[in-house]
Amino acid sequence: MNNKVTYQCPSNIALVKYWGKKSGGPQLPANPSISLTLADLCATTTVEIAYGNVSGKPSFQFMLEGQIKKSFEPKIEQFLTKIWEHSQLVQNQTLVIQSQNNFPHGTGIASSAAGFGALACCIADLEFELYGAYPAGFDNFEKAASFLARLGSGSACRSLYAKPAIWGEHPDFNSSDLFAVPLDADIDPIFSTFRDAVLIVDSGEKSVSSTAGHALLTGNAYAESRYKVANQNLGNIVEAMKSGKMHSFINIVESEALQLHAMMMASSPYYLLMRPGTVAIIEKIWAYREKTGHPLMFTLDAGANVHLLYPENIHTEAMNFIETELLVFCENKQYLCTRTGTAPKKC
Ligand code: DP6
Repeated sequence: MNNKVTYQCPSNIALVKYWGKKSGGPQLPANPSISLTLADLCATTTVEIAYGNVSGKPSFQFMLEGQIKKSFEPKIEQFLTKIWEHSQLVQNQTLVIQSQNNFPHGTGIASSAAGFGALACCIADLEFELYGAYPAGFDNFEKAASFLARLGSGSACRSLYAKPAIWGEHPDFNSSDLFAVPLDADIDPIFSTFRDAVLIVDSGEKSVSSTAGHALLTGNAYAESRYKVANQNLGNIVEAMKSGKMHSFINIVESEALQLHAMMMASSPYYLLMRPGTVAIIEKIWAYREKTGHPLMFTLDAGANVHLLYPENIHTEAMNFIETELLVFCENKQYLCTRTGTAPKKC
């Protein structure tokens, strides 16, 4: 029997954004979202069972890049406490967790989706190995791992699939608030070739964390309208992907990114995570698209960096555009380029 397992799990970028949580449940999204996994931005995590745990609370050691990381312990402890009732492994074993990211620190790229995704995969796998059942009574590895990952960080639950992942209930899809599912539809092949160039505008710590940002939607006068639009956008973006309507796809992706930031600006207290470089890049992208007709588009997460999305067939043009027009707005001329659409791998 194996008492040690390693998984590599990608990060993901949302096309329709999760922003806001339902009250009255642990980590339930106020609206459904859809994302692509980022193949080359990964966390690799090993979990080893060291010895039993009779303490009645989670017992673990956490190492990042080979070093004990005390500063991460509260987050891991909180996660293991949340999944405690669903996992015999966590209740009965001491876990030695070692993790590393394949993208550089200090780029402002959130690693929690990849990190919690990889840790959840390890726990679901070991649980099955030791106890013959997946956590929380799931009959399927991906659902169990996605369910666990969600309790670490909401967006992490979408990192489990090579196909676009939907998280959150929506009448058109067989989706759930508890875990993400892969999009079950035939989409135009162009959307399976997407690349993401992450343009590092600001590598600093964000002034408001995502978790605090979600909380500010409670009491936000625009929140209910935003949730309604996100529901419509999810239905419409999937239709655009099925019929190959790139123009509609771009409209929804960019509008979603701007709405995410608009909600931050309309929160109380209000805040602004875009930097001048973010806006300059967005305007360059619009001008370039107008001039060339190439289907390049931006999205944003809760920060200043810009994700430039484009299909594989214009990779050379996109690289040229970045080098000649966008790098000037990037901190230390940094950007990271990744393919999309990979599932976690057992190593
Ligand atoms: C802006 O998943 O980081 O990236 O659930 O509190 O951990 P918690 O928040 P998190 O929120 C990320 C939101 C987003 C949009 C998205 O990924 O859908």
